[in-house]
Amino acid sequence: MSDLTTTLTDLCQEALAALESANDPEAAEDVRVRFIGRKGSLTAAMKQMGSVAPEDRPRGGQFANQIKQQITQAIEARLEELSRAASQAEAHAFDVTLPGRRRPLGRKHPLSRITEECIEVFRRMGFVVADGPDIEDEYHNFDALNTPNDHPSRDIQDTFYLPDGKLLRTQTSPVQIRVMERQQPPVRIVAPGRCFRRDTPDATHGMNFHQIEGLYVDEGVSLADLKGVLMTFAREVFGDNVRIRLRPHFFPFTEPSIECDVSFRKQADGSDQWLEIAGAGMVDPHVLEAVGYDSERYTGYAFGMGIDRIAMIRYQITDIRLLYENDLRFLSQF
Ligand code: PHE
Repeated sequence: MSDLTTTLTDLCQEALAALESANDPEAAEDVRVRFIGRKGSLTAAMKQMGSVAPEDRPRGGQFANQIKQQITQAIEARLEELSRAASQAEAHAFDVTLPGRRRPLGRKHPLSRITEECIEVFRRMGFVVADGPDIEDEYHNFDALNTPNDHPSRDIQDTFYLPDGKLLRTQTSPVQIRVMERQQPPVRIVAPGRCFRRDTPDATHGMNFHQIEGLYVDEGVSLADLKGVLMTFAREVFGDNVRIRLRPHFFPFTEPSIECDVSFRKQADGSDQWLEIAGAGMVDPHVLEAVGYDSERYTGYAFGMGIDRIAMIRYQITDIRLLYENDLRFLSQF
């Protein structure tokens, strides 16, 4: 019996000494494994129980339990000590006199700002926002807009085709069709969004750009209504001194068709400069019929504005590519 007692006492001393020099939690856990783990020294020592007189065995077992408990408590105490020391060290490492880390605030992209501003202006005139997919089918992007497969207008709106025959929309006009397919007149929507065309990038062209589409269909809608809306829009966005000019043009899905320019005083010589901002016109009866509207009863106008254009004018941006490069030196100026 005294052999076992000695072994256990030694073992306990050894474990406590090992804990004393354990400088991190891993080392302390190591002591647990080495001394009181399943394959540790305590388990090994208990083999001596065989040579202990049967009447002494219960006391031997009790003693072993005490030793185990003592070691366990010492380990817990050491672990706590170590973690307290660690958090103290951390607290000391934190220098409260250092300046804080500034998190730079993000801001809206100029195109988002202009888009939101345009929506706001049109909303005040009774338009609601509609949406359509960037990946369109040929029917909505072309056919339903009176632009059949062999129409020359398709050439200037060459775009990116997907293997399943769908395409990246070349204009926001397909949203006109999607809205009219869903509801009966009166319809008064604007649809902002991204468009794509196969183009050689330069200062005023990119392979993607943004438009805001407008559509108003009701009884008795006329070109004069369109002109009024364009004029109001231009005043709201560019200021009271702006002038607009409507030029005859051609679009397959409007008849008559126009282009809308706005005028600015050129800073260099004070002369007037005209910039095109929108295509527009009266919705072609074919388009109304394609969605099942009664073209004898209803008329409507539609327009499509270049948001990038408007942003470039407003912020005096000279190269459209800047809007798509995500260069923070550029973007943080707005
Ligand atoms: N979708 C035409 C374009 O991208 C613009 C437009 C829209 C013209 C609506 C007329 C009516 O060029």
